[in-house]
Amino acid sequence: MSGPNTDYDPVEVTPLKADQVEAMREAALAAIADAPDLDALKQVRLDHAGDRSPIALANREIGALPPQARKEAGQRIGQARGAINQALAARQSVLEAEHEERMLVEETVDVSLPTTRRRRGSRHPLTLQSELIADLFVAMGYEVAEGPVVEAEWLNFDALNLGPDHPARTMQDTFWTEPAEDHVVLRTQTSPVQARTLLTRKPPIYVVCPGRVFRTDEYDATHSPMFHQVEGLVVDEGITMAHLKGTLDHFASQLFGDGISTRFRPSYFPFTEPSAEVDVLCFVCRNVDAESCRTCRGEGWIEWGGCGVVNPRVLVACGVDPEVYSGFAFGMGIDRSFMFRHDLEDLRPLFEGDVRFSSAFGTEI
Ligand code: DAH
Repeated sequence: MSGPNTDYDPVEVTPLKADQVEAMREAALAAIADAPDLDALKQVRLDHAGDRSPIALANREIGALPPQARKEAGQRIGQARGAINQALAARQSVLEAEHEERMLVEETVDVSLPTTRRRRGSRHPLTLQSELIADLFVAMGYEVAEGPVVEAEWLNFDALNLGPDHPARTMQDTFWTEPAEDHVVLRTQTSPVQARTLLTRKPPIYVVCPGRVFRTDEYDATHSPMFHQVEGLVVDEGITMAHLKGTLDHFASQLFGDGISTRFRPSYFPFTEPSAEVDVLCFVCRNVDAESCRTCRGEGWIEWGGCGVVNPRVLVACGVDPEVYSGFAFGMGIDRSFMFRHDLEDLRPLFEGDVRFSSAFGTEI
């Protein structure tokens, strides 16, 4: 039952009284200011500005007021709600900023801390290339021979027909061990493995020997006192220069790509006769428009190594009958081959042990 239709005084509707509205607004502002984090603020928003908050409920009462009273009540509530919403928005952005800052601190990753994750190592690119070369010859029926890097002078020089006056024997090129009377050197080439093989095996001989060699060279972009060669030696009945050419063409095409052949230029090595320098067809320009090619520097061909028919004097020195047997030999720089296969202009990264360099060439096993 409705009461008498008296004049409706908004001040008398409790939730709309000024002090009540003020109290709601104060309570809301205090709760907002006290909200310690975004979750708490969410709850404060529900409690003080949500559909069921005292101020929202009071707002609903306005509709029941007579029109003339609505304005004042509406303003009062509206101002209070505005102040609450403003405070909520301000607090929200303060808390968000704090949150973000905290996350930045808490989630900071110290990239210098040691990790428990182990990087996969990678084998040295020259080791991989030496193995690739050895495999390629093993596939042709060769064996892989090895010799010591600290070598007898006789095997490094004399047995290979490098007489005592040969310039390569001077102190300039060779590391000698002390005392000098021991006649021991760091091998200057892999060729002594030829002599070692001939001395210890009977033909037919088909061997390759990849390995380290040493010369007293300055260390720079194209020289190193330690580098790598691969030696090849074949001694059998009826071996000719033609076998050598065919073998090196095959070697070149396997290492540098189909159709990459070699050319021989006459040369001199004491342990081979005749001897030749071997060039490999530039695998980048293939000698077509070579002028602009960076890899062969306009030559169309790239110097690769030396080779020849084994000098009968070497066979004799090692106890092999040159009337029955003949052979061929070759020696290539492994580092050089690697450099032009990979367009590397400075060989030093090959010897400086930076793991990033090695891993750039993959982890092949
Ligand atoms: N040992 C030679 C060098 O270091 C390279 C070489 C040339 C090896 C001719 C050979 C060969 O076996 O037949 O320069």
